[in-house]
Amino acid sequence: MTVNTTPLAFKNKAILAPMVRVGTLPMRLLALDYGADIVYCEELIDIKMLQCKRIVNEVLGTVDFVAPNGRVVFRTCERERDCVVFQMGTADAERALAVAKLVENDVAGIDVNMGCPKEYSTKGGMGAALLSNPDKIESILTTLVNGVCKPVTCKIRILPSKKETISLVKKIEETGVAAIAIHGRKKEERPQHPVRCDVIKAISEAVSIPVIANGGSHDFIKEHSDIETFRQATAASSVMVARAAMWNPSVFRKEGPQTLKDVMQEYIKYAVRYDNHYTNTKYCLCQMLREQLENAQGKKLHAAQSMQEICEAFEMSSFYHETSALLEAKKVSLEAKDQDEDDHAEDADVIKMAVRFDKREYPPQITPKMCLLEWCRKEKHPQPVYETIERPLDRLFRSVVTVAEQKYRSTLWEKSKKLAEQASAIACLRTLGLPEGKRDEEANHLVNKRKRQDGECLNNGEYLTEAACKKPHFVSGASNSSVS
Ligand code: FNR
Repeated sequence: MTVNTTPLAFKNKAILAPMVRVGTLPMRLLALDYGADIVYCEELIDIKMLQCKRIVNEVLGTVDFVAPNGRVVFRTCERERDCVVFQMGTADAERALAVAKLVENDVAGIDVNMGCPKEYSTKGGMGAALLSNPDKIESILTTLVNGVCKPVTCKIRILPSKKETISLVKKIEETGVAAIAIHGRKKEERPQHPVRCDVIKAISEAVSIPVIANGGSHDFIKEHSDIETFRQATAASSVMVARAAMWNPSVFRKEGPQTLKDVMQEYIKYAVRYDNHYTNTKYCLCQMLREQLENAQGKKLHAAQSMQEICEAFEMSSFYHETSALLEAKKVSLEAKDQDEDDHAEDADVIKMAVRFDKREYPPQITPKMCLLEWCRKEKHPQPVYETIERPLDRLFRSVVTVAEQKYRSTLWEKSKKLAEQASAIACLRTLGLPEGKRDEEANHLVNKRKRQDGECLNNGEYLTEAACKKPHFVSGASNSSVS
């Protein structure tokens, strides 16, 4: 069995609960500022996470797990590395392990959500559906405990009877999990139903792993001292707070909560600083404003369509502009450094030029890559080979194409792999003086033809091959008009 090496412990902790849409980086950092010991991220589904790439974002100073469509699914940073627990939704042990492996070096623990009663979760066998499948629970948790070097936890709801719940928790304890969070409601119960402290207490007394009590926001927890009251009522090791922290994250503050005005300002600062999506920021602020959503500020927030407009609603425009300018400056300086390294890169043998592919300049179905491929076939060269790299800084792409043992690339970075490949094909075609397939090439083609005739004359009728020619604007072979 792998030994857990992190300092994460679950005794006497005030914990920010996992909350979809709420538990993103700004909220977690704010909760830590106010005194939370451990923060859980929102539940992230295993299949979605497995499509993500881990990218170090040097501008923000974060680690991002980014989906193929460019969306950041999970963003974390050094500050929370020793206290953030990654919660996943899963119904499959191998997938769960693969996700845990993907994130384990960036987080302090791994949690499996077994309490979500929503249909989107249960119909896939995840969330509360797992509660009626103890063998699946055992297989997922055992695989995780044995496969990762960080503590593993899970979060459940209570079953129809105390006896059944204790029996399930004992089974879970045997898997080697570091702690278990109990939301003291049954899966069909809603937040307004009273939390069952007696069941959590009975579980705490029946098992020896730390029990994290959850579900007390509505009835118990208004401020920090209430967290301890709830802990004692449930005889639990620690307390996990969801809604009370969503309404006011300073609930974790020992000296008592701060005014919502101050809390929202601090939240917005983190949201801007960490480039949180404005819709998510707006959602969290609406949860804090609650009854005040009808006042002037609430209405402005409701109407906001960007982070800038959110900041305007809270009279934080200057903060927004200063922070955006700082981030932009950092991006530019990192890009310049990158360019500098690029200029000194050991790719002197690559022919480079600053070219981009603009689809609008080409007829439908015609691209530079096609032109290059067709030319290679005609000239009996091997097919062009494209090698593409992605720049972590801004997730832009650049491609090198090899044709007849010569490499070509654009000096410009592109938004996608496809665009980068087209740009490198243009660099090659343009170097060799070949048609690129553009709409206006018919006219240019006549010029090329004239130039070629001049070239033929200059070379005393000797026709140079394209492979031998590596200088820009060389025109041999330009008669290949059939490709366009
Ligand atoms: C939740 N909850 C939840 N639980 C979980 O394990 N993973 C999740 O992603 C979410 N998402 C979520 C979103 C929102 C908006 C709410 C309000 C709740 C449930 C939550 O963690 C907790 O179990 C319950 O809210 C009960 O605790 P409180 O609110 O009484 O402290």
